[in-house]
Amino acid sequence: MKRRDLIKSLGVTVGTVALSSVAEVSTAAQVKKKKVLKVAHITDVHIRPEHNAVARFKKCLEMIKKDKVDFILNGGDTIYAADYDNITKDRVEQQWACWNESVEVVKNIPMYHVLGNHDMWWQGKDDELGGKAGVLKMLRMEHNYYSFDKNGWHFIMLDSNHPTNPGMLDDEQWNWFVKDVEKNAKDRSTLIMSHYPLLSCTGIVDNKPDIRGPFKVSGSYNHLDILKFIEVFNKNKNIKLCLSGHIHLLDKVWYNDVTYLCNGATSGFWWEPGDDGKSAYRETVPGYSLLNLYDDGSFESEYIKYEAV
Ligand SMILES: [Fe+2]
Repeated sequence: MKRRDLIKSLGVTVGTVALSSVAEVSTAAQVKKKKVLKVAHITDVHIRPEHNAVARFKKCLEMIKKDKVDFILNGGDTIYAADYDNITKDRVEQQWACWNESVEVVKNIPMYHVLGNHDMWWQGKDDELGGKAGVLKMLRMEHNYYSFDKNGWHFIMLDSNHPTNPGMLDDEQWNWFVKDVEKNAKDRSTLIMSHYPLLSCTGIVDNKPDIRGPFKVSGSYNHLDILKFIEVFNKNKNIKLCLSGHIHLLDKVWYNDVTYLCNGATSGFWWEPGDDGKSAYRETVPGYSLLNLYDDGSFESEYIKYEAV
């Protein structure tokens, strides 16, 4: 073969290789991950008649409506507080009326709830609004913990309100949870929502340590049974994301392939002026989170500050 022919031949070969590489790239581009769900996470709404909270929350919900989410996750502490000893039935009803008026804005968007520690009116033992049953009734929930599937993802909604040790599951719920993971999370990416964080770093920054330590992190900053959860997560790598609230601070913890997001508070400083005059609790202003979930189990999350800051 003459040198010129060799170059021609190489040129064709190189060209062919180059073309096939392009074809491979475009095939790879075609099979790239696909967004399957867009979800809003609100938590610690603490709705109340004071501080113009209803109008402010409605603005938040209007933004969520514009976001065109598939559904809303409500992480608990839905009403300001029903759990204190001095709360009357009138006050409980007043707070739920504020909630019902507000959520009219998103009445066409499905919403999934978990119970917060301030939602239960413990004083109303024999009343239809009393205890967990009263909250289930007001939020039209069938059970205090449950799971469901949507577009290839599995969602587990937990009740952290243990009767004697807040921030953990009782035996019955724990056994249900383990079975649910075994059955439903084996072939689906899974998101868990609880009111109390399963794992969070907010306890480190929300308390002043002694000069020589240790850091004083009380039980409510992390689920008391977190080590049991970690064991389950280590056996099932489809558990991707755990959402929570309760602390009113925004953090992101990654541990052993699982991401834990403590997603601030929709009410910020319970709608009050707070630490900056604009309802911030420490550095976290009122907000909600927008999540994009993908078919490969990946996700993105953004905290949306819906009031002028
Ligand atoms: Fe709260």
